[in-house]
Amino acid sequence: MVKASYLFIVAIYLGLASAQTFRVCVPPSVPKSVCEGLAKDNSNAVCQEATSSLECALKMSTFQSDISYFSPEETILFGFHQPNWFRVVATVRDTAKLDPYSFEAVAVVPVGHTDGFEGLRGGVYCHPGFDQADVKWSPRVRKTLENLAARTDHCEVNTDTTGKTSEEIEIDTLSQFFSAGCRPGTWSYSDAEDADLKNRYSNLCSRCGPNSDCSRYTIDMGSSVSGVNNDIRHIQALECLRTNSQNTPAVAYVAWDYVREYFTLRNPQQASSFAVLCSNGLTVPLNATNLADSISPCALVRQPWATIIASPNVASNVLNNMRTWWPNGSKPSGDTWQANLFTALTGGTSSAQVVFENFPVFPINYTRGIRVIPERRETCITPRNWCTTSADELVKCFWVRQASHILGLQPPITCVRKNNVFECLNDIRNSNAADFMSLDSNYGYLARVLYGLGPVKLVQNAAADTAKIAAFVKESAIGTISNFEQLRGKKACFPEFGGLANMAFVRTGQEVGVLSTAQCDYARAIGEFFSGGCAPGATDSSHAIGANSTFDASVLCSTCKYTTTPASNQVCSFDDINLYVGNKGAVACLADAENDVAFLDIRDISSNLAAAGLQANQIRALCRNNQLAATAGINVDNSCLLAHVVDAEVVTRRSDPMLTAVRGLLEKLDAFFGYTAANQLINLEIFSPFNTKSDLLFKDSAIGFTDPSPVSAHEPAKNYMELFDHLDKCTYSASGATAVSSPKSLI
Ligand SMILES: *[C@@H]1O[C@H](CO)[C@@H](O)[C@H](O)[C@H]1NC(C)=O
Repeated sequence: MVKASYLFIVAIYLGLASAQTFRVCVPPSVPKSVCEGLAKDNSNAVCQEATSSLECALKMSTFQSDISYFSPEETILFGFHQPNWFRVVATVRDTAKLDPYSFEAVAVVPVGHTDGFEGLRGGVYCHPGFDQADVKWSPRVRKTLENLAARTDHCEVNTDTTGKTSEEIEIDTLSQFFSAGCRPGTWSYSDAEDADLKNRYSNLCSRCGPNSDCSRYTIDMGSSVSGVNNDIRHIQALECLRTNSQNTPAVAYVAWDYVREYFTLRNPQQASSFAVLCSNGLTVPLNATNLADSISPCALVRQPWATIIASPNVASNVLNNMRTWWPNGSKPSGDTWQANLFTALTGGTSSAQVVFENFPVFPINYTRGIRVIPERRETCITPRNWCTTSADELVKCFWVRQASHILGLQPPITCVRKNNVFECLNDIRNSNAADFMSLDSNYGYLARVLYGLGPVKLVQNAAADTAKIAAFVKESAIGTISNFEQLRGKKACFPEFGGLANMAFVRTGQEVGVLSTAQCDYARAIGEFFSGGCAPGATDSSHAIGANSTFDASVLCSTCKYTTTPASNQVCSFDDINLYVGNKGAVACLADAENDVAFLDIRDISSNLAAAGLQANQIRALCRNNQLAATAGINVDNSCLLAHVVDAEVVTRRSDPMLTAVRGLLEKLDAFFGYTAANQLINLEIFSPFNTKSDLLFKDSAIGFTDPSPVSAHEPAKNYMELFDHLDKCTYSASGATAVSSPKSLI
């Protein structure tokens, strides 16, 4: 304690002494040369690299950083989630567009339109599209008009949501509201669902033009006009409106800048035939005066600019200094530290223009007058509850939840905190305020057998991060042990009872014929084959792998060793009191003269061997094909492994009616916050450490998702599904099949 507070005082002292040097936090999108260029000459700034913009915000909230650049959607997020903390000191606009808004989304209708949004029923819907990387429209922005008109965010009382994604429900509602239209681009991040929806709700693609696949407009745009780019989808959507508005209601939902371009340069003679539809349902006819104004008569969405935000303690100082660094708000010439600082704080656009605030304001004070994100309300699919097991994980979940809400990703996420994985599994099973979580594949069997859960998605890993289970025997025993049959009656080490290594042994034992495939009580199968050993957790109810087993698995605790004499409830425990717990423990267990074989994950085996005082050449792998590896050591071929599988999966209740909706949610999280996200509106990295803490919500080894399919193209995913084949037969086959569900009845 004394030491900690001393450090704290030193930190404050240093903070004051160097008050002129501002710590500028930059995400990876800022080039290294720019970051280094901050240190030139008598610089007032020092660069701090972070893994994401959100990490910059977290650093600033704990006074570890002073200033950073944030995108419009990030600024809105802070207005919503940390409304009174940071200070906006400047906005980052464009030299060609100094308006108060970075864009305005407006609804354009024929001038005679009546009856507000309801008046659009049965009409034609022309939308610029759902996949343009260069337009910074979030799903919430893109869907604003359809939410207002068709109430796509609400369900009719009798809507059947079972087995559907939010997208399917939305599109179904939308397709009933509009008779025709073009809503090009990605409707679902699942290719199969996207194709299916476009096929079933083709009226929403009917005005895209010939052979468009609903991926883009292919309508005849006529001859081009100087100053108007016919390839821009907002222009195309306006053309869709113009050519489809004769006898039906029609609407184009587009950016105001393009409305001006279209009706002043391209089709000026038709401007007076159209109007903008305001959120109060009234219309304002277009005319030369309002088209000359860079601000629309009324918009459905107005978007703030990106901002430069500072921590409260330095904000005034930063603002005063900025006025001297960049006197007219534009990038100073030369390769000076001030010029590099400008680049680092303006988001990388070459035409950036900084507009200073009069004084530092809260993010909410800046965004409030421009765009207000509503609090959560009733949604069609009720929020899905993400189970977390630590305070840090809960915080990450909370940011993911808020960021998803800002962007308008459905269904909404809520977060719940439990003490450990087993409490989560239990609460998910009981629908007790928990619906899903990412689970270490080590617990795949337990989740299925004991908790009745199933996979929504498997987590993909880079090759080095997949789980690799091997069996090792001692080199000194070779001669008496050279195949699985010779392990009968011997003593075995497992990292954890019911874990991946444990069950990989069951599968291999069945394959090589030493375990009966008729035996569905796996505890009995293992416990009767070996004469003893250590499988931590074997006697704990949280690890019972035959839910109805009467087998006393304590035989699999016979050789466990403990840090101190265990109390009765600590015998065979699966925590650190048990010296043989986990992969490290399994190696230590094998080193013990009493034991004969260890089944374990070979990642980290070198350090585990060293800790146990074993040399690699003292052990040899026993392969899945029932033969010893050719040589001693720990370099095990993939073909020799008992299992080579993904290291995690996302689980939920097996027959949950919302399972499909959770799948859709995960696909969206990957698309917006994953490694493949091309253009992140909010720079939050869902698979990366959060605030420097590893393995929160997902393990750091995750790189994306894959479907839990036995024909998955991702080999470790396919292998993982195969691992459960026998279990599935035991659990779901009709009685009388080869594998029967209750072996006890045979006794
Ligand atoms: C924010 O706005 C409120 C209400 O208008 C005002 O009282 C407050 O001084 C403002 N503060 C900052 C820091 O923006």
